[in-house]
Amino acid sequence: MAENAIEVRELTKAFSDVVAVGGISFEVRRGEVFSLLGPNGAGKSTAISIISGLLRPDSGDALVMGHSILKESMAARRCLGVVPQEVALYSDMSARENLVFWGRMYGLSGKDLEARVDEMLAAVGLAERQKGRIGTFSGGMKRRVNIAAALLHSPAVVIMDEPTVGIDPQSRRHILDHVKELNRQGMSVLYTTHYMEEAEELSNRIAIMDKGKVIASGTRDELVRMVGEQARVDLAVTGEPDKAAEAWRKVTGVSRATVEQGRVAVLAADADAVVPRLFESAAQAGFHISSVDIKEPNLETVFLSLTGRALRD
Ligand SMILES: Nc1ncnc2c1ncn2[C@@H]1O[C@H](COP(=O)(O)OP(=O)(O)OP(=O)(O)O)[C@@H](O)[C@H]1O
Ligand SMILES: [Mg+2]
Repeated sequence: MAENAIEVRELTKAFSDVVAVGGISFEVRRGEVFSLLGPNGAGKSTAISIISGLLRPDSGDALVMGHSILKESMAARRCLGVVPQEVALYSDMSARENLVFWGRMYGLSGKDLEARVDEMLAAVGLAERQKGRIGTFSGGMKRRVNIAAALLHSPAVVIMDEPTVGIDPQSRRHILDHVKELNRQGMSVLYTTHYMEEAEELSNRIAIMDKGKVIASGTRDELVRMVGEQARVDLAVTGEPDKAAEAWRKVTGVSRATVEQGRVAVLAADADAVVPRLFESAAQAGFHISSVDIKEPNLETVFLSLTGRALRD
């Protein structure tokens, strides 16, 4: 038995002059939820498409339950359920009909197929809506049908590409709880998101991706420790935030000061010591601080510290 559910080795993929994936490696261990956390355009979906066998890499390889996606693509695909970023369902068919269709594609038939479809409809909380046409479903409901489709053949590993983007809170909660339940039952999960809270809630380990590279990976606590447990202080100022950030970069104890959506984000190892100095510096420079919000270190802080940008621009 393979030790890792997924092993990604030095994958690269470029689209003409855009390097979407620039040599990434990571492994998803058996039985864990592993998240790729990164902003728009980081290369998450490209990596997922390669691992799923939908896109050929320029170089590198990936193993799914020990099977090379290049040399043993059929075996690799059989072990894998994929929930793509874009919903892929027939809108003029019912939820149940869609699942029966997918089940046949996976080689299921007869009573096994019907039983499995029932099981999956219940698992995603749509048993009562199974006869409804997909075209009449909300985005969140379609997502849940897509998740059911990916799980019909009982794969050992499931990949979900940003499954909670643009859906209602109830469906979102349902999906997050479902991921945890699948994992509790022993399924290995590769999850992509640009929501820090989701990566924190779900994952055993996380790889932070940016511009086609994995810039850091580890458990949530390891990642936070990596940047020296810095707190983030968000400040609103009267006057120009750029000028405030510039002044504060010179303040002792400030490791970074950037402007995020009109506010100044300051990183500091010791927020208690630094905040009074920020007030002093503001007074000297002739502007006022109108609000201060101190945040304990989290993955957002890690991303900011490593890239100088916010996860959500
Ligand atoms: N088929 C394609 N043709 C050309 N460029 C592409 C193609 N697919 C992706 N790209 C580019 O590759 C980069 C990575 O895109 P990708 O979709 O993998 O990012 P992502 O992390 O999934 O982003 P998002 O969070 O927006 O889904 C982007 O610059 C994107 O424009
Ligand atoms: Mg994507």
